Amino acid sequence: MRRKIIAGNWKMNKTPSEAVKLVEELKPLVKNDAVDVVFCVPAIDIVPVVKACEGTNIEVGAENMYFEESGAYTGEISPAMLVDAGVKYVILGHSERRDYFKETSEDINKKMKKAIEHGLVPIMCCGESLEQREQGITLDWIRQQVKVGYQGIAASDAAKTVIAYEPIWAIGTGKTATTEQAEEVCRAIRQCIAEIYDEATAEAIRIQYGGSVNAGNASELFAQPDIDGGLVGGASLKADFGKIVNY
Ligand code: 13P
Repeated sequence: MRRKIIAGNWKMNKTPSEAVKLVEELKPLVKNDAVDVVFCVPAIDIVPVVKACEGTNIEVGAENMYFEESGAYTGEISPAMLVDAGVKYVILGHSERRDYFKETSEDINKKMKKAIEHGLVPIMCCGESLEQREQGITLDWIRQQVKVGYQGIAASDAAKTVIAYEPIWAIGTGKTATTEQAEEVCRAIRQCIAEIYDEATAEAIRIQYGGSVNAGNASELFAQPDIDGGLVGGASLKADFGKIVNY
């Protein structure tokens, strides 16, 4: 039985002092030892948020990371920096990074390998645009993103990673994928992992759904056989996140 993982993606929200305040508000609400709870926060919030989460069930994640160890990469953050700061998870390849910052699946594959090398758990995002869905190429596109993302990664490492399926048209729009649509793609992702690796790896890997997850739709989404939790944007910044964690 896979353990559910419910992660908030704060995106570019909350200053360090606001972040600590939000953690203090959410701490009592997100208590649930039956699931993994992760707050993925802006880089500058990581240090105070890790401190604020000490002694709780909350793990801290980053929203991005660079694939080099160190050096002349102005503005980037290395995996060692994240580990040293107490980070456990890192979101890689969010559609906002793919779209606005032109990250490719090849870049994301390099980041995946580096994150794993440093003992971080990557949450690799994939998802189709509305145009791709209307063209009927959703599953082909997602399979491509997953295959490139996992190139050269060993099965034993892949099994410990997390994939977040986030249809781009459902992000921040209030338009959630239906449970059938979400389950169909999450199942296809698991099948793709089985093809790349084997059944055991496919059974172990955790697959989240993301895109307008809220307190009202979380329980139905998370009840699907291939949906192992959620990656939550807007609703992770509110008391609602407590309801989602305790779906
Ligand atoms: P929303 O939950 O705000 O739609 O964002 C989803 C998302 O992008 C999480 O990574």
